Amino acid sequence: MSKIIAVSNQKGGVSKTTVSYNLGACMALNHGKRVLLIDADPQANLSKYLGYEPDRSPTMTQLVMTACMNGAISSEITESAVRHCEKANVDYIPSDLNLASCEILMTSALSRETVLKRILSENVTDGYDFVIIDCLPSLGTMLINALTSADKVLIPVQTQEFSMDGLQALESLIQQIKTTINPKLELLGILPTMVDRTKISKYCIEILHEKYGGILFRTSISRAIEAANSAKNKIPLCLSTGKLSAEYENLTQEVIERC
Ligand SMILES: Nc1ncnc2c1ncn2[C@@H]1O[C@H](COP(=O)(O)OP(=O)(O)O)[C@@H](O)[C@H]1O
Ligand SMILES: [Mg+2]
Repeated sequence: MSKIIAVSNQKGGVSKTTVSYNLGACMALNHGKRVLLIDADPQANLSKYLGYEPDRSPTMTQLVMTACMNGAISSEITESAVRHCEKANVDYIPSDLNLASCEILMTSALSRETVLKRILSENVTDGYDFVIIDCLPSLGTMLINALTSADKVLIPVQTQEFSMDGLQALESLIQQIKTTINPKLELLGILPTMVDRTKISKYCIEILHEKYGGILFRTSISRAIEAANSAKNKIPLCLSTGKLSAEYENLTQEVIERC
């Protein structure tokens, strides 16, 4: 059975996409895992990172539209949306800007929380060890769908001023979804990202430790230019030689252990 991990934080720019891509790539390249990445953000940064070029096959937009309008969606349609990224050795379903308008469609659909769950049926996910959903920066219907489909939530937190604002709202949404539609949902861990030598970064890590203890990953991810270069060159960090390569390897080991 595959484990479905939602990478979420309603704040933008905290490393959700960088974590989704590099965790998936490291699982596949260093640990031989079969990985499916889902781009659930209309900004489609993950799709671009994976080297996606628009083509005629369906994206998340068409899948969500079909599932909203027809209720059920066949695994054949979903499978036709799956692409492969050679460099990261992962499969993925891309997104595009039109996914933004689907959020409105979803809001009025019957059983609107389970649209993504119906798309990611067991027939589709069974061949994978891990499915990683890169969530959009919002607490809207698409995020509720990601949390309804997921087994685990990974929350990257940028260790900067105001970074912990809003964490409470996300935690309370996770709790609500767990008690209503998805009892198996669990917090996989909180990941400090963009850690640097500043006082504010140190202070944030202390607060996170105090508040979350063992839920915090032992690994944290440093702020380093390698991250931007990896996105620009579309090369996974685990194939580089800098410190983010080792940090992502440690994170991947921890995630596999915790799952
Ligand atoms: N560890 C890091 N160090 C420095 N820059 C980073 C790091 N991780 C991500 N970035 C950069 O920060 C920006 C936001 O990261 P991204 O993963 O797109 O965040 P999100 O998906 O949460 O919006 C991107 O330009 C990315 O290259
Ligand atoms: Mg993103």
